[in-house]
Amino acid sequence: MYDITKIREDFPILSREVYNRPLTYLDNAATTQKPLCVLDAMRDEYLNANANVHRGVHYLSQRATDLHEEAREKVRQFINARKTEEIVFTRGTTEAINLVASSFCESQMQPGDEVIVTEMEHHSNIVSWQLQAMKRGIRVRHVPIDDDGMLRLDLLEEMITERTKIVSVAHVSNVLGTVNPVEEIVRTAHGHGIPVLVDGAQSAPHFKVDVQALDCDFFAFSGHKMYGPTGIGVLYGKEEWLEKLPPYQGGGEMIDKVTWEKTTFERLPFKFEAGTPDYVATHGLARAIDYIESLGFDAIQQHEQQLTRYCMEQLMTIDGMKIYGPKDASQKDAVVSFNVGDIHHLDMGTLLDRLGIAVRTGHHCAQPLMDRLGISGTVRASFALYNTCEEIDTLVAGIKRVEKMF
Ligand SMILES: Cc1ncc(COP(=O)(O)O)c(C=O)c1O
Repeated sequence: MYDITKIREDFPILSREVYNRPLTYLDNAATTQKPLCVLDAMRDEYLNANANVHRGVHYLSQRATDLHEEAREKVRQFINARKTEEIVFTRGTTEAINLVASSFCESQMQPGDEVIVTEMEHHSNIVSWQLQAMKRGIRVRHVPIDDDGMLRLDLLEEMITERTKIVSVAHVSNVLGTVNPVEEIVRTAHGHGIPVLVDGAQSAPHFKVDVQALDCDFFAFSGHKMYGPTGIGVLYGKEEWLEKLPPYQGGGEMIDKVTWEKTTFERLPFKFEAGTPDYVATHGLARAIDYIESLGFDAIQQHEQQLTRYCMEQLMTIDGMKIYGPKDASQKDAVVSFNVGDIHHLDMGTLLDRLGIAVRTGHHCAQPLMDRLGISGTVRASFALYNTCEEIDTLVAGIKRVEKMF
C-alpha cells in the first residue's frame, strides 16, 4: 500500500508554507527533498562517528570507513554492478561525466576522433566533451531528435564511423522526459566495439537501473536527485574500462607510492577518488537508497507514471498549452515541460511561485535542445515519489489564474 500521507510526513519541508500558501514542490528534476532518515543518519555520523576515512587506525576512523564502504556496497547492489571496484564516488553526475571525458580522451582518443551524444543532452554531457574537443581536437557529434522529442535512433548506425570512440547519452531527458532506448544504443555501439556512457541523472531516481542488463560501460548519477544529500554522485564503470583509464585528479587517497621520481596509483576505485571523500554524504546516500527500496521501485514508478499521465491530461485542458516531448505519457518519465500561449516561461514561473508552486523555468541546461525546439525556455514540472494529484490540480489552477492576468 503506497501511503502518500505517511510518505509526506517523512519529508517535513513539504508541509511548510511559502508566501502564506502551502508549498507545492514540483522541481524534483533539479533536486529532491530529503527524508528524515537521511538527515538523521548524517547528523548521527557527525555526532558519533566523524573522522577521516581510510587513514586512521583509531575507532572513529574505522567506523567512518565502514559506513563509507558499506555505502559503496549499497550503491553496487542498487545498480547491480558486479563489484564495488566499479563504483567511484564523485561530486555528482557532472563530475562523473567530466572524469570519463577527461580520462577517456586522454588515453583512448586522437585528434579527429569522435564522441556521439544526442540533441537532448544536459550541458554536462555536452560541455565536458567540448572541453576535450578544445584540448585534444576531438569532435562532438549529436544524434538528432524528431518533432515528438524522440531520438532518431535510425541515424545512430550511420553516424558511427571508424573515428567514433565513445557514445554518451542521457537515459532520460531532463526537459522532455523522453526515456531513451539505452539497451538498443548499447547494442548498436558495441556492434562496432564502441563503449557507451549513460547519463542516469534522471533515471536512477525513478526506476530500477541494472547496469549489467543495460550492458553500458559507464553510468553516472547524482545523490541529490534521489533523496540523498548534495555533493555526492556515482560513476559506475566496467572494471576493464576503469583499469585502462588514467586518474582524473591527483592527491591523497588515490596513490599507492609517491617519490620525487615517480608515483604509482591505488587500486580501483580509489585511483579515481583523490582527496578526502564526502563520507558523510555517502552514508546519507546509502540511507536514501534504503528509503527508495523500502517503498519499492515498482510502487514508485507506478505512482510517478500516474502523476505524469494526470499532469499531461490536466494541462491539455488549458487554452494555448504546448507540451514538449513525447505525447504519450508512457514514453515520458516524471518530467513535463510546457509553455502557455505567448506567456514567457519566466513570468509564468515567477507568478506560480507567488502561489506557492515551485517549478523550473528557462533552458534547463539544455540550450542546444532549446534551439532545436525554437524556444528560449519552458516551464517544467517534475515529480517525485511524494507528489500528489492534488498538487497537480494546484498547478493547473495556478496556470489558469496566471493566464487570466495576461
Ligand atoms: C540529465 C542530466 N544530466 C546531468 C545533470 C547534472 O547533474 P548534477 O548537477 O547533479 O551534476 C542533470 C541535472 O539536472 C541532468 O538532469
